[in-house]
This record gives sequence, structure tokens and C-alpha cells, in this order.
Amino acid sequence: MTLNRVLILGTLTLTTMMSPSGGEDIVADHFASYGINVYQSYGSWGQYTHEFDGDEQFYVDLEKKETVWQLPVFQTFTSFDPQGALRNLAIAKHNLNILTKRSNSTAATNEVPEVTVFLKSPAMLGQPNTLICFVDNIFPPVINVTWLKNRRSVTEGVSETSFLAKRDHSFLKISYLTFLPSADDIYDCKVEHWGLDEPLLKHWEPEIPTPMSELTETVVCALGLTVGLVGIVVGTVFIIQGLRSGGASRHQGPL
Ligand SMILES: *[C@@H]1O[C@H](CO)[C@@H](O)[C@H](O)[C@H]1NC(C)=O
Ligand SMILES: *[C@@H]1O[C@H](CO)[C@@H](O)[C@H](O)[C@H]1NC(C)=O
Repeated sequence: MTLNRVLILGTLTLTTMMSPSGGEDIVADHFASYGINVYQSYGSWGQYTHEFDGDEQFYVDLEKKETVWQLPVFQTFTSFDPQGALRNLAIAKHNLNILTKRSNSTAATNEVPEVTVFLKSPAMLGQPNTLICFVDNIFPPVINVTWLKNRRSVTEGVSETSFLAKRDHSFLKISYLTFLPSADDIYDCKVEHWGLDEPLLKHWEPEIPTPMSELTETVVCALGLTVGLVGIVVGTVFIIQGLRSGGASRHQGPL
């Protein structure tokens, strides 16, 4: 089932290229987006973020009218006035209304999101870890990313980024689940989006050695040992034969 809604993004992006000053060999430029404004008609929803090198620095909570830093340590030495974001999004909303009329209320085209699930650090049973659900190519930015543990919904330990801007005007979002790996628990990242016919589940479970692979290891080990022993026996036989024929040829030599 695909729902189509009118959606156009009014995006006023102010980007700054920054490079280390003074250096002759510039190895890396940084890319900062100081103010990504997104507004859509579905749910009259907007988002204001700052990004640095593709990472979210903060978003403005439009309901509470406050700036939310991705790393709370930032708010100890810098600040951002949320009023600027509210003004920008009011302009974006106004522009979106004009553009919607101009397009005869043509709906946005749904893209199919791409979902990948991976671990933050190598799995160790009993060691706290984080599962990462990376959802790429999101358009329009209306999505549900949730987690299932043993097929049941979990909300504890779950957090996610805002919609992060992509150069092709689609978005990506990353959802995190902190958890304690155990041999018996299986996980799924569940994604609902209008570009999908049904919710997409990306599965993850700890990789523990299966009886099959242990059997394979035993067989390989036994085969190796057999080949080695056969080699020693055959080699010994050849050495003995060689010694004998060598002795014989020495006897034959003078003839
Ligand atoms: C919108 O509809 C009007 C009247 O039917 C038409 O003249 C115009 O070209 C349409 N605009 C677009 C962008 O389709
Ligand atoms: C997200 O979940 C809500 C609540 O279950 C639902 O109403 C909405 O349709 C879902 N959104 C999408 C894009 O499927």
C-alpha cells in the first residue's frame, strides 16, 4: 500500500567550505551545513538542523522551542537561538504553499529506502554493545524506524538521528539500540515507509559457531593429520628405498 501526499521541501541551505588556513597542502576540507531547513505539508512538519562533515550537530525542537545538541558537551561552550529556526521554517511553510499551488498539488514521488544493520564494535557475549540501523535514500522524510527483540517491539535503549541531508535531496537516518549480546536473542530493525509495500525487517543475531562448522573443522583437521602421517610413511619408504638402491648402485658402480 502506497500513500501519496503532497510534499515539497523548502530548503534554504547555507553551506560553508572551511579549510585549514595557512597550509599549502590541504589534505581535507570540512563541510558544514549551518542551517538545513526542511518543511513538508504532511503533518505540517518541519526540521531545522546544523551538520558538520555529515554528522548532526543539533536540531531545534520546534514544540519546546529549544536547541538539542547531539553531543550534550557542546552546550557548555556554545549556543544557538532557536528563534532563528522558527523564523526560517515559517518562511519555508509560506514558500511551500506557493509551490504546491504552482505544481497543481502534484504529490512527491516515494523512493525505496535502503536499510543496513551492523554492530558498533565486535560482538562479545555479555559485553554491552550498540546495534546500528542505517537507513539511506529516504524520500519523503516520513518514516518509522523501530527495533524488535525476539520479534517483540523494544523502546528501551533506542535513539535516532534527525533526517540527515544528502546531496541528491534524499535523507538518511541512523537508529541506535544499546543492548547486551546473548546467544539466544535475535534482533530486527523494522522500517515503515511509503516507498515499501510492507514493513522491511533487517535481521541481526549473534554469530556463534554452529555444530556443522565444528564438524567441518574436525574433518579438515583429521584429513590434514592423515595426509601428514601418510606423507611421513611414504617419505620413509622412499628414503629406505633410496638408501638401498644407492647401496646397490655403489656396488654396481665399479662393474
Ligand atoms: C496547472 O494547471 C493549469 C490549469 O489546468 C495549467 O495551465 C498548468 O500548466 C498546470 N501546471 C502544472 C505545473 O502542471
Ligand atoms: C508510522 O507509525 C504510525 C503509528 O503506528 C502510523 O500511523 C504511520 O502510518 C506509520 N508511518 C509510515 C510511514 O508507515
